[in-house]
This record gives sequence, C-alpha cells and structure tokens, in this order.
Amino acid sequence: MNIHHLLSERFTLAVQAMGIEDAAIPLSRSTKPDFGEYQFNGAMALAKRLKQKPRDIAQQILEHVSLDDVAEKLEIAGPGFINIYLKNDWLSAWCESALSDAKLTVSPHKRQRIVVDYSSPNLAKEMHVGHLRSTIIGDAVVNVLEFLGHHVIRQNHMGDWGTQFGMLLAHLSDELKNASVAETALSDLEDFYRAAKVRFDNEDGFADRAREYVVKLQGGDVECLALWQQFIDISITHSEEVYQKLNVGLSRKDVMGESSYNPDLPVVIADLSDRNIAVEDQGAKVVFIPEMSNKDGDPAVYIVQKSGGGYLYATTDLAAIRYRSKELKADRTLIFTDARQALHFKQTEIVARKAAYLREDESYEHCPFGMMLGKDGKPFKTRSGATIKLSDLLDEAIERADVLISQRESSLSDADKKQVAATVGIGAVKYADLSKNRTTDYILDWDTMLSFEGNTAPYLQYAVTRVKSIFRKAEADLDTYQASVRVASQQEHDLVVKMMQFDEVLESVAKDATPHVICTYLYEVASLFMRFYEANPILKSDVTTETRQSRLALAALCARTLETGLNILGISTLDAM
Ligand code: ARG
Repeated sequence: MNIHHLLSERFTLAVQAMGIEDAAIPLSRSTKPDFGEYQFNGAMALAKRLKQKPRDIAQQILEHVSLDDVAEKLEIAGPGFINIYLKNDWLSAWCESALSDAKLTVSPHKRQRIVVDYSSPNLAKEMHVGHLRSTIIGDAVVNVLEFLGHHVIRQNHMGDWGTQFGMLLAHLSDELKNASVAETALSDLEDFYRAAKVRFDNEDGFADRAREYVVKLQGGDVECLALWQQFIDISITHSEEVYQKLNVGLSRKDVMGESSYNPDLPVVIADLSDRNIAVEDQGAKVVFIPEMSNKDGDPAVYIVQKSGGGYLYATTDLAAIRYRSKELKADRTLIFTDARQALHFKQTEIVARKAAYLREDESYEHCPFGMMLGKDGKPFKTRSGATIKLSDLLDEAIERADVLISQRESSLSDADKKQVAATVGIGAVKYADLSKNRTTDYILDWDTMLSFEGNTAPYLQYAVTRVKSIFRKAEADLDTYQASVRVASQQEHDLVVKMMQFDEVLESVAKDATPHVICTYLYEVASLFMRFYEANPILKSDVTTETRQSRLALAALCARTLETGLNILGISTLDAM
C-alpha cells in the first residue's frame, strides 16, 4: 500500500472534477503532528493559474476530493495547505491486510532490468576498507530493487587486468619454482604484492621481466594466461570469503571483470574512430567533450587509447556500457564507487551517449560515496599507515561485539553468545555505514556503532528480540500471527502510520539508491514501538483479550517490518540476545 500514490490519485480526481486536467499534485509528509500526516500543497499554484484566492481553491478541492474512507479530517491551513489526518479505522484495516501479506502490502513496481555494478575490487590486492561501502551499499540497493520485483543483474566489475599483473606474475612464477603451491604463495595478497613491489623497485632485471610478462599476457601467451588465471581464481576466493562474512549476495557468476571486455576494446576504438567520435591527438585516440570545457573554452579530453596502443579504464567502461545495453538489455545501470571517480563516470556517460551506446531511455547512474575515516578524521588506516584489510576489520568487529555480549546478563549458552556476537558485530559495521548518507565521508567509531542505544544495528536487533520474547510469553507465533486490529491510542496511531510508509520508503530508496533512508525509517519504527509498548501494555492481566490480540498484532507487524527492513539491508536478526 503506497499511501502517497493513493492520496495522489484522489487529489488528481478531485482537480479533474474541477475541470483541470494537467495540474501538478504535490503531496508531502507533514512536518509536525499538528498538521496531520500528509499535506497537499497544490492549491497555491492552481490559484495563481486560475487567478483566484488559494484558500478558495483549497475549499473547492475539499468539496471535490473523496477521502472519507481514509481520512478522519481534512483541514485548510496557512495560505492554502490541505492537512490530511488519517483515520484509525482505515489504519486498522491496513494492519489486517499487512498481517496476511509477506510483502507487508508493498506493491510491485513495473519490472525493469537493472544492472548493478558494485563491490568491484581490484584483484591484485586484498579487498580493503574502501570496498566495504561499495559492497554493502550496492548489495542493499540490489535487495530493495529485487524486493520491488525488478530484474537485477549483478555485475562485479573486478579489476583483474593491467600492467601491475606483469610484476605479480613474474614473482609468482619464481615462487612456484621454489616448489610452493599458488594457494600458499597467495595466502596473503598484501604481503605478496609488497614482496613483488620490492623486487620490482630494487632487483636488477626484475622490472624488465615484469614488462615482458605484461607483453606476453596481452599477447595471449598460453602459459602466462594460465598463471594469471590461477592468480585471479585465488584472489576471487579471498573476496568470496569476505562476501560470506558480510552476508552479501555476490557469487562467482556475478564476476564480470575488466578482462572480459578485452576482445571488445579494439572494436570500440575502431567504431569510435570510424564515426569520427574519437580522433588522433598527439598519438593517442581521444574524444573531445566540449560540454565540459574549462575556463578558456578548451574541451575536456577523454583518452580512449594511449599513444603506445594501450587501453584504459575508460575504454573498458565504454565496452561495458555497450555490453550491458545490447546483451543485458539494461533499462538502468547503477555503479557504486567512491566519489573520486565522479568525473570519470560523467565523461563516460557523455561519450557513450554521443556514440549511442546507451539507448535514449536507458539511464546510467553513478552512485558515489564518501570515504571511511578514523576517529581523527583522516582516512582509516592501521597505525603504521597501511590500508586496513576488510577481513581484519570484520574480525575486529566480531571480537568487540563478543566482549560486549559476554558482559551482558543473559541466559544464553556460550555457543549461542558466539553466534550473537557474530551477528551483532557484522550487523553493526554494516549498519554504521549504511545509515549515513552515502555521499558524505563518515567516521568509523566502534563504541557508537556497537551501542544498544541510538540509530544502530544492536538497537534494532534488540527491538526485534524484544517482540519475540513478548510472543514467547504470550505463547503465540509471531510469524503467522493474525488478529483483528483496533487502532485506538495515539501511540498506536503513530506507529501504524509509520509502518504503513514502508512502501513509500522503499520506493524512494529504489529511485535514489540511498539505503540510509531505510535505516532512519527503521529507527523511527523501533522508537515508536518502544513508546507504544510503554504506554500500551500487552500482557498485563487487566488488558482485555480483544485489546491484547490487537496489540500483539501491532507488535508482530512491527517485528516483521524491522526484520524485513534489516534483511533488505543485509543484516540478520536473532531470536534472543
Ligand atoms: N575496480 C574499481 C575500483 O576499485 C571500481 C570499478 C567500478 N566499476 C566500473 N564499471 N568502473 O575503484
């Protein structure tokens, strides 16, 4: 049930009944409880157009709009706002239908084919904290889109090609001569990379061999390719371990690394050159972008082939666009990388549109995110200044949660506590990240993210277990609970209005790729639940059966909303904590 759409339709009909066909129907959530739950703000614009007084227009709209089933009262306020107060009977009926619907009345969207390019680590090294955001924000958005019924095609655009592989393969081939198996040699990619780099910088002749390897690799040398394949496979396995720990739905079949586009690169260059979109400039092939000129009026230069004939990140992205449009038939592509790549994607889109590699109705959306910072406000690093491996960060989260959980009073067994610590630790890291507006940098702070108070994973996970324990006491089954609902108190009213907005919230996340909107929402639901539960006892002996059942139903709906929301964010819930 999308209340926003429902109100929109009713107001459209009302305005049409007044003889106006094409009016905008601006509706928003009211900013204060005194103004009801929703507000129609279209009377002012209409008044201007019809040269009448806004409040008179608002009055006419009230006479034409039919909302008796939904609204308790409609009120004209200020210069001509119409405040809408939702009706308890209607909210009660909504609860009953939500209780019998696994999707909590969220209606499916018109199905689109949506490519989501996320995680996309560079395989020469281990996944580091910079890939955490892409991985989990991308995954949350994927889950939202799938929940809404879209066809999502995950694309893990891994960096599996490039000159650094020459150095790595030269080193690997030597290591293998020393009778070590590849898995052992590559058990720590960071160490391996560092060792190769030291040799590259210091060892006589090694840099030349590294360059030979690059040439051989690019020339398709069979032995060299086999070595490369071995390296890639092991590195992907490392990433998969991180995905598993993170509970992220990426698998090997989603990998579409840069190298998969190698055969397409000469085709793209030939095509762009034939059509004069790319031209020679100082030996390189470039596309001029006059749309992005500098102060002096010089167009931006987008290089698609280097003077020595080499291809670039940009060339691969153009090839990827072609493939996604033609073969994957994407209606929409979302790409999650840090904000420093914003210019690249902006230019890439302009070039791709010039070349008609994107259909006109096909969108290409770079979804940038800010950096993860340490408490000192500087990029998050180890004490020695090295980048932090993602898997180490996750282990630390679990350890810290473990300490916290073991301090809490609980009847759980030690094994259960371990399980709780893992769920809370991983949940906390993911939630801390997801709950911030992705476009800004954010500070990783262990104490805040693991707190059981405030907008955190533990708080929400705890709210769910609290409802579960109420159901255990009531000897009722939360998952299948149904009852007739009677929304009566103000707290019940507020809670239900909020729960009903789930549909609206998911819709906005699907549009803007902003999972933090779900987090804010879930936090509000949980807070309203706590308020409701304090003021409206469920299991006390003086509560009538009818009221108890109705309140249990609200509690069930609340737990299901929180669980569904958390699962969409990729965060697990628990039966007890
Ligand atoms: N591998 C890149 C990085 O680690 C991200 C790739 C994003 N996707 C793309 N189509 N360029 O920064």
